[in-house]
Amino acid sequence: MSRLFGLIGRKMLFRLDPEDAHGLSIKALKTGVVPACLPNNDPALRVAIAGLSFPNPLGMAAGYDKNAEVPDALLRLGFGFAEVGTLTPRAQFGNPKPRVFRLVEDNAVINRLGFNNEGHDSAFRRLTERRSHAGIVGINIGSNKDSTDRVADYVAGIRKFHSLASYFTVNISSPNTPGLRDLQARESLRELLEKVLDTRDAQPGVRRPVFLKIAPDLTEASLDDIAAEIGSHSLDGLIISNTTLSRAGLKSSKSTRETGGLSGEPLFERSTIVLAKMRQRVGTDLPIIGVGGIKSTATAIAKIRAGADLVQLYTSMIFNGPGLAREIVNGMSTTLKRDNVSTIAALRDCDVDDWAAKAIPV
Ligand SMILES: Cc1cc2nc3c(=O)[nH]c(=O)nc-3n(C[C@H](O)[C@H](O)[C@H](O)COP(=O)(O)O)c2cc1C
Repeated sequence: MSRLFGLIGRKMLFRLDPEDAHGLSIKALKTGVVPACLPNNDPALRVAIAGLSFPNPLGMAAGYDKNAEVPDALLRLGFGFAEVGTLTPRAQFGNPKPRVFRLVEDNAVINRLGFNNEGHDSAFRRLTERRSHAGIVGINIGSNKDSTDRVADYVAGIRKFHSLASYFTVNISSPNTPGLRDLQARESLRELLEKVLDTRDAQPGVRRPVFLKIAPDLTEASLDDIAAEIGSHSLDGLIISNTTLSRAGLKSSKSTRETGGLSGEPLFERSTIVLAKMRQRVGTDLPIIGVGGIKSTATAIAKIRAGADLVQLYTSMIFNGPGLAREIVNGMSTTLKRDNVSTIAALRDCDVDDWAAKAIPV
């Protein structure tokens, strides 16, 4: 945790409702009050996947910058890439407030935001304004709650943002939009991938990678189905995982019974097991981004050793402040030097079998 954030920032922010605190942090990044804190530019941390060259493997996960207000400010905090969204075609308010809850003793959060966002048009305007800026900015797309054709909403996202996205994430794993996770079932997934990837392939210019973001609450049989289905499409990678519906093992005295998706420390084990199981199923060629409970250099490297090419975080930044990305990235360099490993990519898959042998917690 950075000193300043540890001394005053966290205390002040934690007095506020979590959503208000989030709004304030976005404002702070927008206005430039948060100083840039770029990590060492270590070539050993570069990762090349899906036709993109990432300066380091740590990204900001979707949900922090839902409306594409601060992607460049996030990159200046040391993230190697930033994912904005989830964006739906039309603006929507999401679920009634309060809808985000801190579980302080668990370093975790439960959210049931329900894809609150300003819609495609406003994000399109913001991203157009920054289009000449360097840096990898992914766009996470979803469907409106009241949509009558969910697949069409994803297709609209690809069309709208194709000229602006470094990559796309097709998010079918939020637990807060009723029915959305059903798109992970094999027949639905087939139709979705066919239409989304055909649309991507029909766009002029550069081919944009498309990643699929899945839930951590899947059975071994569902993982088999997803792996089999993606094998017959030109999908560029997986993001594993979104938040969980599980409440197993929580220590907090407050808010554990709130409905919504749980993220942060208690998600680490589950999402890493699912990641390794998926790595075993899809083989070594398909890129995977590991996300869920990363809070340190050690947990980021553990995800990579469990099968991830890249990693992302969100919740631990709420607890540890804006200096966390740089701390983790610099720690990766130190670890590589200490262990005499030439590149971060060399660590991928070292522990896949150990992680994959564990049962997905119930
Ligand atoms: C408040 C909040 C909002 C989120 N919103 C989204 C979202 O809009 N789209 C999405 O794909 N994931 C969303 N996520 C999930 C994160 O991207 C990530 O997959 C999950 O939180 C696990 O990572 P973490 O433990 O590092 O937070 C959200 C998470 C949180 C805590």
